[in-house]
Parts: sequence; structure tokens; C-alpha cells
Amino acid sequence: MKKILTLSMLICLSGPAFAEPSSLVAYDRETRALIRSGNTESGQKLAKSAKCKKCHSMNGIADDQDDPNIAGMSATYIFKQLKDYKDESRSEKSMVKAVSKLSDQDISDLSAYYATQQLSDAAHATETVPVLVHYGDRKRMVRACNSCHGQNGEGGMYDMPALNGQSKGYFIATMEEFQEEDRTNDIYWRMRDIAKELTEEEIEELANYYTAAAPDDEEDEDEDEDTEDKE
Ligand code: HEC
Ligand code: HEC
Repeated sequence: MKKILTLSMLICLSGPAFAEPSSLVAYDRETRALIRSGNTESGQKLAKSAKCKKCHSMNGIADDQDDPNIAGMSATYIFKQLKDYKDESRSEKSMVKAVSKLSDQDISDLSAYYATQQLSDAAHATETVPVLVHYGDRKRMVRACNSCHGQNGEGGMYDMPALNGQSKGYFIATMEEFQEEDRTNDIYWRMRDIAKELTEEEIEELANYYTAAAPDDEEDEDEDEDTEDKE
């Protein structure tokens, strides 16, 4: 009896390894209804009281190139990311902290609010459109970026984010995190698999194509405005 137990335990240990799920978010009916119920007015209040404004601004365009622009991304994408930070499927510390006290309804309201802000245009700061954007590369089994990210990079359905107008520093950093598996919340490894096939030069070129023109280094003038909003 003892032997059998040990054997079956061994079999368990050496059995196929099942990966942890990348994300606990499923877009089932209930979740879709919750996302649709997002209230932009409460979202706007929360963007101040929960300090999102500090890093992402009220209009969703960050002052700092390392912070992502979230303006005009779909509510379904924003919702998934915030839930992923909440259960640490995505683990960057300042974001995990920022969402830790939010309820599902708060997350839905914030998602609705930032989704209504104006998405920035892509700078298209490359001489030609990088081939990967519309064609991908069959040899490396990399699909065209825009087949998922929207015909014009404006974002696709559900979990496929807009790439246009993203902060350049963040775009490159998050691609490197997918390559190195420091960011693992992409369902079915869709971005990790692709990022691993790309060279540093390709990522730089794609970033130049999609991201917003770098903001001028003007000192930010929001300071006095900030003080009015103290809770
Ligand atoms: C201290 C600065 C800071 C605060 C406060 C903050 N964020 Fe963030 N946010 C970041 C950074 C930095 C990232 C990128 C982190 C990473 O690499 O995972 C990020 C990522 C995100 C993302 C994912 C963006 C993407 O393109 O995938 C969303 C959505 C987001 N934040 C929304 C919010 C909301 C809503 C709040 C308020 C509840 C908030 N953030 C508060 C700095 C901040
Ligand atoms: C098969 C579909 C698919 C293809 C093809 C694809 N992506 Fe993605 N991409 C995704 C998904 C899904 C996510 C969001 C993952 C998550 O849930 O966090 C993503 C996320 C990203 C992000 C992070 C955005 C953010 O705001 O954090 C970048 C940057 C990105 N993709 C760039 C690219 C580029 C460049 C290409 C082409 C070389 C590409 N993607 C091709 C599906 C795809």
C-alpha cells in the first residue's frame, strides 16, 4: 500500500506541467454586463480620489514616458488590466497598490471613464510602415500586429489594446517584459510568443511607428491645479 502511494505521488510530481493561468478574467456574460455598467461620472471622481490622475492624468495621457497612456483604450482592456493587477497576474508594484482597495464596480467605472478620453494619434515616425504591422512574418509565425490590434492600431475587441499614441518608453519596456516573461498576463502567450521573435531594432521601429510623438520637455503646469483637487 505504502509503495503504491509513493508511486502515485511520483507520477503526480512528474506528470505534465500545467501552467498557471495568465489571467483570471474571462469575458463571460456577467463580466461583460459589469463592464457595460461602468459609470463615467463615478469613474471621473475615482480617477482623482484613487490617485490615478497623479500618473496617468485626468485625460489618460501620462506626463512621464515610462507611464502608459490609457486614454481611449477599450473598457474591456482596461478592466482586464486592473483586475490582473488586483490579483497580481500582472505585478508592477505601484499599480498593484493603486488598485488594491478598488471594488469590481470601481474598476468598471474607471475603465468606462478612461475609455471615453481621446486616444492619441500614432506618430508614424518611420520612413515606411514596418512590414510586421500589416503582414507579419510567416517564417517566424508572427501574425500581423494589426490583425489583433485593429486595422489602424486603434485596438481590437476585448483584451487587444490600442497601440496608437502609447508612450514610447512604456511600449519598449513592456515588449521587453513580454520577451523576458516578466509580464505574463497575456492569455495564450499571444504577446510573449511574438515578442520573443522580435529583435531590439524591430521593437524600436514598431515603437516609432505606433507611439505618440514625444511630448516636449515643458515643466508641467498642472501643479496649482492639483491643489484644488485635494480630497
Ligand atoms: C504611481 C503611479 C501610478 C498610479 C498612482 C497609477 N498608475 Fe496605472 N500605471 C502606472 C505604471 C508605471 C504602469 C505600467 C506598469 C507595468 O509596467 O505593469 C501603469 C499601468 C496601468 C494600466 C495598464 C496600461 C496598459 O497599457 O496596459 C492601467 C489600465 C492603469 N495603469 C490604470 C490606472 C488607474 C485606473 C489608476 C488609479 C486607480 C492608476 N493606474 C494609478 C503608474 C500608475
Ligand atoms: C494574436 C494577436 C496579437 C498579435 C498578432 C499581436 N498582439 Fe500585441 N497584444 C495582444 C494582446 C491580447 C495583448 C494584451 C495582453 C494582455 O492581456 O495584457 C497585447 C499587448 C501588446 C502590447 C502592450 C500594450 C499595452 O498597452 O500594455 C504591445 C506593445 C503590443 N501588444 C505590441 C504588438 C506588436 C508590435 C505586434 C506585432 C509585431 C503585436 N502586438 C501583435 C495580441 C496580439
